[in-house]
Amino acid sequence: MDKIDVIAASPLYPPVMEVLTATYAVHHLYQAKDRAAFLAPLKDSVRGIATFSGKVDAALMAALPRLEIVASMTIGLDHVDLEAARARGIRVTNTPDVLTDDVADLAIGLMIAVARRLMVADHFVREGGWLKGPLALQSKLGGTTLGVLGMGRIGQAIAKRATAMNMTIVYHNPRPKPDLPYRYYPDLATMAADVQYLVIACPGGAATRRLVGARVIEALGPKGTVINIARGSVIDQAALVTALAERKLAGAGLDVFEDEPRVPEALTKLDCVVLTPHVGSATQATRLAMGRLMLDNLAAQFAGKAPLTPAV
Ligand code: 8YV
Repeated sequence: MDKIDVIAASPLYPPVMEVLTATYAVHHLYQAKDRAAFLAPLKDSVRGIATFSGKVDAALMAALPRLEIVASMTIGLDHVDLEAARARGIRVTNTPDVLTDDVADLAIGLMIAVARRLMVADHFVREGGWLKGPLALQSKLGGTTLGVLGMGRIGQAIAKRATAMNMTIVYHNPRPKPDLPYRYYPDLATMAADVQYLVIACPGGAATRRLVGARVIEALGPKGTVINIARGSVIDQAALVTALAERKLAGAGLDVFEDEPRVPEALTKLDCVVLTPHVGSATQATRLAMGRLMLDNLAAQFAGKAPLTPAV
């Protein structure tokens, strides 16, 4: 039987790409110099798109009239035009759950790294600062309040970990979750005024764009630290950089940025900031699990069954 035609819209973790290419006739769109010329001969055959960070927009979907499924190896789907998919009856799947622990671990890691100045402390030892005297004292996490923006699966995993660290958890979400034992704030800025740490764990996209703007940053103020493991688009990055540079915020731990992989130079100069290159889910075990789930979603669709984790 002929292999089903599938487009890879971005490079994938090699063991995942290996299975994809063994199973399907894979066309590597991210390598194409001329997209239109690349897509034209595939128009009547491609039934699926596999992607990681590669954009799947309305134009790409329109160029593939037999497209049935966009299977993304991510939890976030801000790189896929969900409205266009809905309008065309194209399934979109993501990879929730399998990455929850890793992303929550990184959020907590960043929070500890900022509060306990781990990067500064490491440099201090390496550069011989310790021989000249002790490092300045740091900030205690236990007993402080953590505000979680976005109390979904990842937000809840962060809350669970921070509870074990003796932090008080509060949250802001589009809707309260009455089953959770945490105080709900309907207004984000009001919550920011009451917390020492604000962790962003909500989806990206238009609905949350610049939700953490000047008003929220000001409410968080010099007592406050921002941790972002969600999407750079959720923060007004320029306002954040200004507040940090002017010491109007205590610090930040950032895994995601507005224009990745570009990071504002001003951030790299601040020792109250810890920066990581979008590595929330970047462990070998989790990337394999994400890849497996993406492959299972494709297989289910082509077998005429319901995909395991449909988002659209
Ligand atoms: C990916 C992520 O590293 O799953 C997600 O939504 O943010 C990460 O797992 C990222 O999407 C790659 O750009």
